[in-house]
Amino acid sequence: MRTIAHISDIHFNRIEDAVVEGCVADVTAQQPTLVIMSGDFTQRARASQYKAAAAFMGRLPRPQLVVPGNHDIPLFDVITRFFMPLRNYTKYITRDLRPSFQDEELLVIGVNTARSFTPTLDGFWKDGKISEEQLLDIKLRACDAPSEVFKIVVTHHPFIPPPGERLHGIVHNARNALDQMEDCNIDMCLAGHLHMGYSGDVRTHHEAIKRSILSVQAGTATSTRRRGEPNAYNLITIERDHVGIQVRAWNGTSFENAAFTEFRRSEGIWNRIE
Ligand SMILES: [Fe+2]
Ligand SMILES: [Fe+2]
Repeated sequence: MRTIAHISDIHFNRIEDAVVEGCVADVTAQQPTLVIMSGDFTQRARASQYKAAAAFMGRLPRPQLVVPGNHDIPLFDVITRFFMPLRNYTKYITRDLRPSFQDEELLVIGVNTARSFTPTLDGFWKDGKISEEQLLDIKLRACDAPSEVFKIVVTHHPFIPPPGERLHGIVHNARNALDQMEDCNIDMCLAGHLHMGYSGDVRTHHEAIKRSILSVQAGTATSTRRRGEPNAYNLITIERDHVGIQVRAWNGTSFENAAFTEFRRSEGIWNRIE
C-alpha cells in the first residue's frame, strides 16, 4: 500500500498563515510515501510569491512530485508570458517539467498542462492543454512499466468537471489524452485547478473511453480563493484494486478528517463504495 498527500492550488501569496502552518504540520504527521503538488503555486507568478511557495515546499516531506498551473505563468507581463512563461517556476520550484516517481508499486508521471495562450470560444485562456508530444511522452514512460504497478498521471487541469457541472475548466484534448492513456493502462489521474475536491470514473463524461480510469481532484490547500469548501488536501491510499481518498480539511484550528471516498476495482471497473 502507498499513501500520497495530494496538495493543490496553494496560491502564494493569497494564503492565510495559520492554514499554511497547519498544512505543513498535518502533512508531515501523515508520513506519506509521496507528496504531489498539482499546480498554481502562486497567485501571479511573481518571484516573491515563488520564494514563499518554495519555502513551504521545503518544509513538506519528500519525495515530492510537482507540476505547474495556469497561475504559475505571468498574466500581465506579456513578454515573459509568451517567451519565458515558466521562467520563475523553473528558477524557484523545479527545472523538471516532466517529473516522475517510481517504486515497486507505483509509477507517477507529471505533465505540464499550463499554457501561455489557449484560445477558447469565450476568450478565456486559463484552461490548459496536453499536446501530442506530451501524450507520446506519457506512453514512452508508462507503457513499459510492469502491469502490477499502479500508474498515475498528474496534471493541473482536470479531465472531468465537478458533479452536476457542465464540461468546463477541463484540459483541452482530454478525450484524445484519455484515449492514449487507456492504451498504456493508466489507473488514475490527479488534478486541481477548480478548487473543489471531487472524484469519479472518467467514463461518466467521456463515454467513448473504454478503460475505467479514476479522476481525483483536490481542493485548494492554503488559498483564500475558496469555492464554498474549506481549505483541504487529499490523503490517498492506493492498493492495486482499491483507492481511499481521505479529505483532510481545515476546521479553523487544524486539518482533520472530512469526507472519505472509497473505490474498489472489480473486473476492471472502478466502483464507488457507498
Ligand atoms: Fe488555482
Ligand atoms: Fe488553476
